[in-house]
Amino acid sequence: MCGIVGYLGPRPVLPLLLEGLKRLEYRGYDSAGVAVRSPAGIQVCREVGKVASLEAKVGLERSRFAGTEGIAHTRWATHGVPAERNAHPHRDDKAGIHLVHNGIIENYTTLRKALESKGHSFQSETDTEVLAMLVGELYEGDLESAVQAALKQVTGAYAIAVMAESEPGVMVAARKGSPLMVGLGQGEYVVASDPSAIVAHTTQAFALEDFTVCRLSQDGWRTSNLHNAPVSPKVMELEMKLEEIELGDFPHFMLKEIFEQPEALRNTLRGRFNAEQGEVILGGLQQVGRDLVKARRIVLTGQGTAWHAALVTEYMIEEFARIPCEVQYASEFRYRNPIVEEGTVLVAISQSGETADTLAALEEGRERGAMTLGVVNVVGSSISRMTDAGVYLRVGPEIGVASTKAFVGQVAVGALMAIYAGRRRHLSIEATKHLLVELEAISDKIRAVTAQSDLIRDLVAKVVDRENWLFLGRGYNYPVALEGALKVKEISYIHAEGMPAAEMKHGPIALIHDGMPCVFVAPKGSQHDKVIGNMQEVRARGGRVIAIATEGDEAIVPHAHDIIRVPECPEALSPLLTTVALQLMAYHAAVLRGHDVDKPRNLAKSVTVE
Ligand code: AGP
Repeated sequence: MCGIVGYLGPRPVLPLLLEGLKRLEYRGYDSAGVAVRSPAGIQVCREVGKVASLEAKVGLERSRFAGTEGIAHTRWATHGVPAERNAHPHRDDKAGIHLVHNGIIENYTTLRKALESKGHSFQSETDTEVLAMLVGELYEGDLESAVQAALKQVTGAYAIAVMAESEPGVMVAARKGSPLMVGLGQGEYVVASDPSAIVAHTTQAFALEDFTVCRLSQDGWRTSNLHNAPVSPKVMELEMKLEEIELGDFPHFMLKEIFEQPEALRNTLRGRFNAEQGEVILGGLQQVGRDLVKARRIVLTGQGTAWHAALVTEYMIEEFARIPCEVQYASEFRYRNPIVEEGTVLVAISQSGETADTLAALEEGRERGAMTLGVVNVVGSSISRMTDAGVYLRVGPEIGVASTKAFVGQVAVGALMAIYAGRRRHLSIEATKHLLVELEAISDKIRAVTAQSDLIRDLVAKVVDRENWLFLGRGYNYPVALEGALKVKEISYIHAEGMPAAEMKHGPIALIHDGMPCVFVAPKGSQHDKVIGNMQEVRARGGRVIAIATEGDEAIVPHAHDIIRVPECPEALSPLLTTVALQLMAYHAAVLRGHDVDKPRNLAKSVTVE
C-alpha cells in the first residue's frame, strides 16, 4: 500500500523525507516522489521505481530542494499505470496545492468531469490529482477549510497530506479509511502512514480518526472534523523501537523476523497466563470475557495469513471451548448478507489492523449486533480502535511483506482465547495446566526448527527449479499447508497449492508427476497414519515427498525423500512449529531464485484498499 511522509519543523526536510520513505518501502510501491517548500516555491520530484532512484534523481538538483517543510509518497498503483506522471505528489493547476494520498477516491470520475467543465486540465489518470484539483478549486486562501470543503464532496478512502504555495509554515493532513499518524516532536511534526517513519523523531503521536482534519503550523496543531468542529485525538506513546525496524545482521527482514519468533512468542504470552494455576489472563478481554464464554457462535475473519491463523484457531476453539466456530474470508463476509444472530462474536484477525476488507467485515458484523474482538499487532490501528475489545499480538513491527512472526502470534493468541473460554466451560484444570506448560515451552522449541535453516536451504535447492508444489496436511496442519503454499507463492513466485491431505484423491492427485515436490506437514498426531498413507499415494505416482515430521518419528522415514524435524508438542500447538519450517522453505526458495524477499513484486504489506 502507499506510504505517506510529511515534515514541518526547523530541520532540512529532504533527507528526512527520503529516510521516511525508506522506512515505508515495505508497504509495497512502484513509484515515489517528494514536494519541498523552498524559497523559490514548492519544488517537486517524482520517479518510477525504488526510493533509491528518486534519491538519485533529486540529488542531481539538491540545491533546489533546500527547505524545512515537505511531503513525500510511495505509490502502489490503483488508478493509472506506474509512471512519473501518475506518481505523487500531485498538484492542482491554479492555487499551487500539492497533495499526497493513500486510498481510493471512488467518485473521482464524477468530480473530474465537473472540474473539467470548469476548465481544469489533468495531467494524470489518477484519482489523487482530482482531489488536488478539487482542493485548489475550493481554495480561498485557507488550506484547512479548502480541504474540509473538498472532503465533504469525496466518497472513498483517503489519507492525505497537503501544502499550499501561498501558506508557508502550514501543512494539512486528513484521514478516512486509510491509516495516518501525526508525530509530535520538539517544535516539529512528522506525518506518516505508520509509526515506522515517526519513531526516529518522536514517540509521542496520535492516529487520525476517520473524517478528521489536522492543521499543523509553527503556532501549533489542531484537529477538527469536516465541519471544522474541534475533535481531540488520543496522544499515545509509540512503543516501537528503532532497532526493531532495522535489519541488524540479517540479509532480509523476513529472515530476521523468522528468527525473532521465539522472543516474539514470549512477548505475546508474557503476563497472559499462569501455568501452575491453570489460568489465562487476557486483560484486553476483561470487560467481555463472559460474552466470549457464553457465545453461541464465534466467527473468525481475516485475509491471507490471518485467515490461515483463523483456521487453526477454529480447531482450537471447538476442541477446547466446544463453542461452534467458523472462519470466513473478510472479503466474503462483508458482501454475503451474513447471518449474525444473538450471541455471535466476530473476531477480526489482522497484523496491520488496516486491511480494508477486514475493517469492512467488522463494520458489517457490528451493524448486525455482533460483539467484535480484534486480534491485531499494530497498536492504535483502525481495527484495534473499532472493536469492542481485543488482544494485541505484541510480536513487534513486522516489516517483511510475507507474514511470519505475526502468524505465530495470531495462533498463540487464538490458543489463549480458546483455553480461556474452555477453562470456563469444559476444560479441566489439569488439561489447562498441561496445555499452558506446553505452550510456554514452544518458544525454545522454535529454535530447534530455525537451527535447521541451512539443512532446509539445501533441501529446497533440490526442487527450487520446479514450478508447481503441493502442500498437504490434516487437522491442525491443514491450515499450515495453506500457509506454506502462500509463503512460497508470494516470495518465490512458484505456483503452490495447499489442501487437506485427504482431498488429493478427489482430483489434485492427477497433478502428481515425476519429482513434483509434495510437502506433507505431518507431525505426530491423531491422523498420522492417514498422512503416511497419502505420502505413499504420492510416491507411487513419482512425486517427491518432503515431510515436516516430529523428532524421533521413524515411521515416516521410508516414505519421505527429505525430512525436516520439529520437536514433539501437543497436536493443537504443532502449527507454531511446523509453520516455521515452511517459512524457511519459502525464504530459501525466494533467495535461491534471486527475488526481493522483503518486497516481492505486486505485493503490499497492508492491503488498505479493496
Ligand atoms: C501474508 O504473508 C500476506 N502478506 C498477506 O496475505 C496478509 O496476511 C494479508 O494481507 C492480511 O494482512 P493483515 O494481517 O495485516 O490484515
